[in-house]
Amino acid sequence: MSMTDEEFRAKLEKHFSLYRINLRTPIASQVGPNQWYRVDILLVNELGLFRRADIEPNGQVTIACDLYVPQAQGMTPFHEDEDWSLDIRPAPSFGEGRLSKEASTVPGFCSSGKGAFEYRIRSKHEQPTAGQRYLHIKPTQLVNFPQNANGNLQVILPLVIGPINIVPDLQQTDTHLPLELWKNQDMEMVYDGYRLFSTSMQPPVNIAIHEMWDSGIPGKIWDSALVMLDFMKNMIDLHPEYIDGKHTLDLSAGTGLLGLYVASMMASPNSTIKKGKITITELDEAVELIDKNLIINDFLNHRNPQCDMKTRSLLWGNSQEAASCGKADLIIASDVLYEAQFFQDLVKAFVDLSTENTRIYIGYKRRGFDEAEERYFWSLCEAHFNVKLLIFNGKENADDGLVPQMTLKTGVQLYRLTPK
Ligand SMILES: C[S@@+](CC[C@H](N)C(=O)[O-])C[C@H]1O[C@@H](n2cnc3c(N)ncnc32)[C@H](O)[C@@H]1O
Repeated sequence: MSMTDEEFRAKLEKHFSLYRINLRTPIASQVGPNQWYRVDILLVNELGLFRRADIEPNGQVTIACDLYVPQAQGMTPFHEDEDWSLDIRPAPSFGEGRLSKEASTVPGFCSSGKGAFEYRIRSKHEQPTAGQRYLHIKPTQLVNFPQNANGNLQVILPLVIGPINIVPDLQQTDTHLPLELWKNQDMEMVYDGYRLFSTSMQPPVNIAIHEMWDSGIPGKIWDSALVMLDFMKNMIDLHPEYIDGKHTLDLSAGTGLLGLYVASMMASPNSTIKKGKITITELDEAVELIDKNLIINDFLNHRNPQCDMKTRSLLWGNSQEAASCGKADLIIASDVLYEAQFFQDLVKAFVDLSTENTRIYIGYKRRGFDEAEERYFWSLCEAHFNVKLLIFNGKENADDGLVPQMTLKTGVQLYRLTPK
């Protein structure tokens, strides 16, 4: 029996989206020591929205902020700052051009998806090195947010912004105010946001993923990719043979997170995966962001010459473009089911890229399709593949063990396709 629209919506409501910390307004690109600077931030879900019921009436998200030093070439891996420390404090709320009189209770978010804090940089010793730094803003405590998360910090994705330039003798006024209220606004602004991901192996290797929320669907990391990231971590732990020495293809990768994460694991000294080919694909117009993310993490190209990573444009259904990617052993496809008119082309892409041994893993988050549309997609797949829904803690299939707990709360489902 199929569900009514209301039943379907109620089912969607059972799951919540992961939240991201985003910058609400640009910040100053140059900062001097011992002065307080204001940062305005937002909490948003993958659609750029905030559900007020998640924090009202008395929810709080306390945040902390660290300084990271980039590499001279590329940007990552970041390392911690040995020259400057950073203090933070709560800031008054700001709306409609007006600043409230009192500071909030905590640095971060209080009963609202709009938050703020102030930070101050101080030297750790007498001759600190100035220059570029990045601010890493992360949640440290959740109170009544979101209502069913039980303080689990994993539900909020931290933010990295920068670069900011530390200028030791810089004298500025109004720095504790939002930039739009500074008298001297003759200052370059910073609005670029990144997400930082560290490998699970010791010593950790970190990569940064630049997001461009203004450039639409491919410009950000979707919930499904975050769940698939944990899925890939489990795969590297439990089944490195799926990846090691193989060709992994991150299909319609958006920012390129999953492919880049696999490459960062190959660059980890103690990793179980040591070599392989990684192809990251997107629509032609969206490859640029992924290429940018490859440059940001340029160290990956040098650290392990046995990892061969490249980007390719691939429109589903275009056999020529698929041929230029080559056949893959492992295809990761995160959140690629969102337009029914492309279902047939998508399945054709799977077929074009597969051999008889290929494993395809799909991360799927229910948003708009009804059950009949979903069934139609899986029936198209079934013409060529065995389709298996993987279950958290399931006992039926060896790959069930790869499914992370996050699937339960976020509603992201993981499917495996193997050729018939
Ligand atoms: C919801 S996003 C998911 C991005 C990324 N995999 C993630 O989970 O963060 C879907 C992606 O599919 C790509 N896409 C949409 N239609 C496509 C098509 N016909 N051929 C190839 N890629 C397509 C979009 O450019 C977009 O980046």
